Amino acid sequence: MKRFSRPADIKVGVVGYGGAFNMGKAHLNQMKAAGMTPVAVAEIDPKRLEQAKQDFPGIATFPDLGRMLKECDVNLITLITPHNTHAPLALQALKAGRHIVCEKPLAITTAEVDAMLAEAKKKGLIVSTYHNRHWDGRIQLALEHIQKKKLIGEIVRLELHMGAFGKPRAWWRSSKSISGGILYDWGVHLLEYCFQLVQSPMTEVSGFAKTGFWASQKGAPYPKDANEDEASAIVRFKNGVLLNLRITTLDHNPKAGWIEILGTKGSYLIDGGEYTLIRRSEDGSVSTTEKGKNPPDQGEKYYQNVADHLVKGAALVIDGPWARRPIHVLDLAWQSAKQGKTLKVKYA
Ligand SMILES: NC(=O)c1ccc[n+]([C@@H]2O[C@H](COP(=O)([O-])OP(=O)(O)OC[C@H]3O[C@@H](n4cnc5c(N)ncnc54)[C@H](O)[C@@H]3O)[C@@H](O)[C@H]2O)c1
Repeated sequence: MKRFSRPADIKVGVVGYGGAFNMGKAHLNQMKAAGMTPVAVAEIDPKRLEQAKQDFPGIATFPDLGRMLKECDVNLITLITPHNTHAPLALQALKAGRHIVCEKPLAITTAEVDAMLAEAKKKGLIVSTYHNRHWDGRIQLALEHIQKKKLIGEIVRLELHMGAFGKPRAWWRSSKSISGGILYDWGVHLLEYCFQLVQSPMTEVSGFAKTGFWASQKGAPYPKDANEDEASAIVRFKNGVLLNLRITTLDHNPKAGWIEILGTKGSYLIDGGEYTLIRRSEDGSVSTTEKGKNPPDQGEKYYQNVADHLVKGAALVIDGPWARRPIHVLDLAWQSAKQGKTLKVKYA
């Protein structure tokens, strides 16, 4: 891979400048803060393209990726578009010799990721996923408590639950063919937390899905193509650890979400900005509970690492194979749910 002399030589652009969370602006600002030079935005919605011009006066704007690739010498492109567009757009840009950062999820299927990684390898380019939450305060502190200080002993099980009772919004995130499914939004972040905590290969995945409830309701969004109402991905690791990820729109329990890591000597709970550490005495007779605040998130480290990789050859934290793991799990979980059986992993 050809190295850049300094971060400012890396010309960066984004594809997708959507209004839901203003992510295009956030990405370009973070890239700029990491020393790279924002030069271009491609977006199919003219109104959003106009917004990009206002936010970044003088930036080159294009109605699609094809025009951007033809008319602009951008080196690194971040894709911030609906999930089913990630793989085709990434392949188009890689074939044109550009590095790719893709918003999560990297793609929907393992096969799509394989094609992206093969093309990147052929061209000597990077493919990474914007896993900004790798640097969330809650997971960084959990790693310190669980891995470094070993405060809960050996990890036995991870339970990750997110959801509430309610009809999904009528937007692309609720369409299975566009979003990939209910697990593909927050699920990839939560899986990426777990892969940092469990340092063991995966062996198999089971998936469960309840479908059709919201699609059968009057006025439901995407009646023919709705996401699962609830889905679970259950992963077995080689060291015996169990991971149970569940995202639901059918939850009547008012407690909407939790992350619980059970260890042999205690439990570690992550609840928004707080952690709870429950520990047992050596003889198991007494338990103590400690609560505390999680430190701030440091998602800006993502682009600093990308710049360090492209300039100094530092290891890329979110490299292709790492970014493939959550997608592989979610792909297998859906296949498993459809087939009603557990499936072996290809990429551990
Ligand atoms: N990492 C995070 O914390 C985080 C937060 C929010 C969103 N996201 C991710 O960002 C991505 C986009 O989500 P969003 O909330 O910005 O959605 P959005 O709907 O607000 O924006 C998507 C934009 O992409 C544009 N678009 C669609 N197809 C395009 C194409 N082929 N070429 C150019 N533009 C195209 C649309 O016109 C739209 O403006 C998703 O992958 C989502 O999961 C990540």
